[in-house]
Amino acid sequence: MTFSPIEHNASLRIGSVEFVSPDELKVCLDLEAPDGISANAGIPRAFPRINSYVLIATEAGYIVAQVEWIAIEKTPFPKRKGFQDYGLVDLPYPTRKLRANPLGILKQNSNNQFEFQRGVQSFPSIGEPVLIPTDQQLQAIVESGKNRRIKIGSSPIAGNAEVMIDPDRLFGRHLAVLGNTGSGKSCSVAGLIQWSLAAARPKDSEPNARFIVLDPNGEYTKVFKDKGRVFHVGSDANSLQVPLWFWNSAEWCSFTQASAKAQVPMLKRALREIRSGGGRIASDVDLELRRKISSILISLRTQIRNGDNYEGWKFGPKLEAYKKDIEAFARHFSGHTTTLGEISNAITKALSFPHQTYIKKDGCIGYNDFPVVNIEPIENVIEKFLTTIGGLVFQNDFNEDIPLSFNSVQFADHIDNLAREDSNPHFFEFLVMRIRTMLADTHMQSILGDTVDMTLEKWLKTYIGDNNPTNGCVTIIDLSLVPAEIVHIVTSVISHMVFEALQRYHKHKKTSLPTVLVMEEAHTFVKKYKEEAENQSVSAMCCQIFEKIAREGRKFGLGIVLSSQRPSELSPTVLSQCNSFLLHRISNDKDQELVSRLVPDNLRGLLRELPSLPSQNAILLGWASELPIMVRMNDLNKSERPHSDDPDFWNVWTGKDECGNTVVRDVDWEKIAADWQGRIK
Ligand SMILES: Nc1ncnc2c1ncn2[C@@H]1O[C@H](COP(=O)(O)OP(=O)(O)OP(=O)(O)O)[C@@H](O)[C@H]1O
Ligand SMILES: [Mg+2]
Repeated sequence: MTFSPIEHNASLRIGSVEFVSPDELKVCLDLEAPDGISANAGIPRAFPRINSYVLIATEAGYIVAQVEWIAIEKTPFPKRKGFQDYGLVDLPYPTRKLRANPLGILKQNSNNQFEFQRGVQSFPSIGEPVLIPTDQQLQAIVESGKNRRIKIGSSPIAGNAEVMIDPDRLFGRHLAVLGNTGSGKSCSVAGLIQWSLAAARPKDSEPNARFIVLDPNGEYTKVFKDKGRVFHVGSDANSLQVPLWFWNSAEWCSFTQASAKAQVPMLKRALREIRSGGGRIASDVDLELRRKISSILISLRTQIRNGDNYEGWKFGPKLEAYKKDIEAFARHFSGHTTTLGEISNAITKALSFPHQTYIKKDGCIGYNDFPVVNIEPIENVIEKFLTTIGGLVFQNDFNEDIPLSFNSVQFADHIDNLAREDSNPHFFEFLVMRIRTMLADTHMQSILGDTVDMTLEKWLKTYIGDNNPTNGCVTIIDLSLVPAEIVHIVTSVISHMVFEALQRYHKHKKTSLPTVLVMEEAHTFVKKYKEEAENQSVSAMCCQIFEKIAREGRKFGLGIVLSSQRPSELSPTVLSQCNSFLLHRISNDKDQELVSRLVPDNLRGLLRELPSLPSQNAILLGWASELPIMVRMNDLNKSERPHSDDPDFWNVWTGKDECGNTVVRDVDWEKIAADWQGRIK
């Protein structure tokens, strides 16, 4: 039996429109509308149900509205059919009502298929019939959108229709995964990565995908151990390395809490000088030597320009240091031994002119002031040498932020020297001490230390992934054992390195290299901060780099995925740049309020279900989904889940699990203590 469209609509009718406003429709349900389960639209389904959909036929197609509120209200007279008024006195009569948000239009295309579009242009008028969608219509609503490539779950309120997403939308404009502890955020994030890779995987190879996970709790190690590169604090092949020479000047300044007036300029100068003189630029030996010699010439000239530099007590030790450096270069750059020897001789000559030196009270050699004529030959010989190898590399070429390698101990010495030259050397004591303390800490040095074979290109290859990434699509950076003092700075350095690398990739290739940076427990790293503070704390600086990525990352193919249980503590800038949200259970008022402010007014009703969502269920809304949708995320089996199981007190107490297996939890504090104190290597 086939129905005419009108008969068909009549069979699906559940009520009529009673109130219309652009963001709200009120529907009075018919007496005979289903109550509990509806069987008139295909597969039996719960009706009326919060967050389910209803349709209202208009000339442009069906308006799709999402149920936000259901109630029984007293109506002044019963809604009855076929009864005339026989003069009876009507008593208030309970009627079922529901309130719904209009979301979009469901249109039928030329192939008789339904297509959902966001936005409603024409609204229904009062009295129009309200329909329950058929299975086909429901599927068209839930499965709307183009490029639905990755199945992330199913929608329990829409007949378990598949929820599929377009990765360009989900990752391209940043995603925030928010929810209480245990609500399933980490599983969803781990799942999104795994399902995306599985969907994109060509037959016999790995996809050209890049995910970098910053994992403060070390939860993801287990999941991606065999599928990606996992870095953690330690001394093995997978030890996390973020050398000090990667730090940019802002990171140095915030770590040392340098004061803007005196210390910041000095620190920047020290960085410029050490970087211009440093660097293992293996591919261009001459350039490296040029940089080093240039830096000596530049600082020599600066000394001379400053006027007071011929004072023996300052200038003498400086010349000695230059001589030492030049002799070291001569050993390293064996092709230039003779010419470098000439420079070293010129310095020796200047240092040993008659009456230049005297013996100090403490028995050491002191220097008298230097006559200009004695210094000029050094300058000349350096200049002559530089012209033979390509000329002076100007200091302006060096930006204090370029990651050119340097020796961190030399850097500390250099700052010390610069500080001593200053009229108020005590201004810099704290700064120098902080750097030296860091250099002396073995825990920190295992991450920050200068390893001879670490180069910028090697780091980029291992952490962002090689070509096509032959070394795996996922990088897990386990931050769990990074000392608290440097965990923010390490996170910040990794993030800024990734961002800048992709920025430069874009500059060179004129196209982007799609990469996703995942930040677990984002509230610790992307924490709100006070902007007016003079000295930005390390955590503020860390947050700023994420703000920058959130604002500009999209242009360079860098998407961020933030996961947090405290959305109200996150930086508002970063949150407002997230265009998609996967909201798990949120029961805290403050967090709920914040989340509701992120979504348009007419969708707020949907979020009322947030406090009661079971784990693994979430609401996906924003750019990635045509309309807000309730998702039950795909199941992950135990080996695919991040390691964050609830502690099993009872099983440990009783020594048995549910299946009767023995549960052992031995204690070996000796080993832990030894490891803690660095006695185990
Ligand atoms: N997609 C899923 N498949 C299977 N189990 C899941 C899934 N999502 C959540 N779970 C279950 O929920 C538990 C908690 O999830 P998860 O660790 O992801 O929560 P969380 O929100 O990250 O918590 P926290 O904020 O404490 O890190 C998991 O141990 C798992 O048992
Ligand atoms: Mg988690």
